[in-house]
Amino acid sequence: MEASAPSKGIFDSANLEKREQVVALLQRAYWMEIETVMSYIAASVNLDGVRAQEIKESLAEDIEEELSHAKRFAERIKELYGVVPGSQEFAAEQSYLQPPEEQTDIVHVIRGVIHAETGAIEHYTRIVEETDGVDPVTQDMTIAILHDEQGHRRLFEGFLREYEFEGIA
Ligand SMILES: [Fe+2]
Ligand SMILES: [Fe+2]
Repeated sequence: MEASAPSKGIFDSANLEKREQVVALLQRAYWMEIETVMSYIAASVNLDGVRAQEIKESLAEDIEEELSHAKRFAERIKELYGVVPGSQEFAAEQSYLQPPEEQTDIVHVIRGVIHAETGAIEHYTRIVEETDGVDPVTQDMTIAILHDEQGHRRLFEGFLREYEFEGIA
């Protein structure tokens, strides 16, 4: 019986197809983060009113975090021998996070953020599943990012609850 070569996991030639699939999932994650940065910058600046301050500050903090997520996804794409896509490949998806008619419409923004975070949670959960047992490094990184998104979502659900309680949402 021939001794098999030690496994290199996701870098095994037998896992080439899987590696390409993971890179494609990471490229999508990268674009989701980039679009979220754009939307959160706009919302954190656009919102008006006394009640908007808390939301604006929270979004301003999230921008840095989402940007660091984008960088981590980009670095992992590179490590897996993929290419970080150029800006011409970008296609916007966050129709729900466009500026509201009225810049005091905080509830519109809160709902948009919850929508974006939910989308990220769904996609990153898929990456965690797809990398299970084959790419623990991508899985580990994505779990940490997923944890951040769950925290963001929970925070904004709390904001929404407050508005619902007051009958504004
Ligand atoms: Fe993120
Ligand atoms: Fe987030």
